[in-house]
Amino acid sequence: MIVRGKSYLLRIRERVIEFVSFLSKNRSLRTRLVRSGQLIIGSMHTNPGGRKLNSSVTSHERDIRRRSENKRVSTATDLPKAQRASSGETPTDLGSEATRAISTALNTLLADMFALYIKTKTFHWHMAGPHFRDFHLLLDDHADKIYATTDVIAERVRKVGAPTLRSIGDISRRQRLQDNDVENLTPLQMLAELREDNLQLAAYLRETHNTCEEQGDVASASFLESWIDEAEQRVWYLFETCRQAGTSAAE
Ligand SMILES: [Fe+2]
Repeated sequence: MIVRGKSYLLRIRERVIEFVSFLSKNRSLRTRLVRSGQLIIGSMHTNPGGRKLNSSVTSHERDIRRRSENKRVSTATDLPKAQRASSGETPTDLGSEATRAISTALNTLLADMFALYIKTKTFHWHMAGPHFRDFHLLLDDHADKIYATTDVIAERVRKVGAPTLRSIGDISRRQRLQDNDVENLTPLQMLAELREDNLQLAAYLRETHNTCEEQGDVASASFLESWIDEAEQRVWYLFETCRQAGTSAAE
């Protein structure tokens, strides 16, 4: 009986060896079994000869099992294929509500950035007076920084799956910062208006940051943090420059 039992166990062992050997060669079957939970990866780590199986395969399978076990928040692959294919927009895992909120906030901010860029450039061109060179160069530097944000904002909108601004008309319909077409402004009036506009812009940037953070768009939020600092720096420079200009005008 003992001999028969051993022989029976040996036959079982041989069958197991054959099966494991077969599975080690048939990756798609193995993946299907792992995904359906019919195969535990721990049993596949070594083959009957004690040789390790391909480690990249087992880590891949482990990953599949982990993903199937974890209840995930939505990901791009969870979106219905038809929806992804027919929308014509960049696929994103943020969800349609988030895309709408983020793109609206960013497109409005983009319109403000263009409005402030044009105003800063205009004042740079029309600057005059004894401090012309300093003020002219200061505003050129500010305009460059503002302009540099525009491409990044527009592309963030595209990356989250929405359209961005298409025209000057689109900018004028959305902008919150006001244009100023008045002729013969004094240098102090120009600098003071830009100081207030940048102060308001910093508040808009913070609002937009809150929206992006609430919707899980950490990439946009990260850019916005830098732009808040840049806006505050412009406010600081303009505030100090206005103070000096006011003092020298009063003398
Ligand atoms: Fe210039």
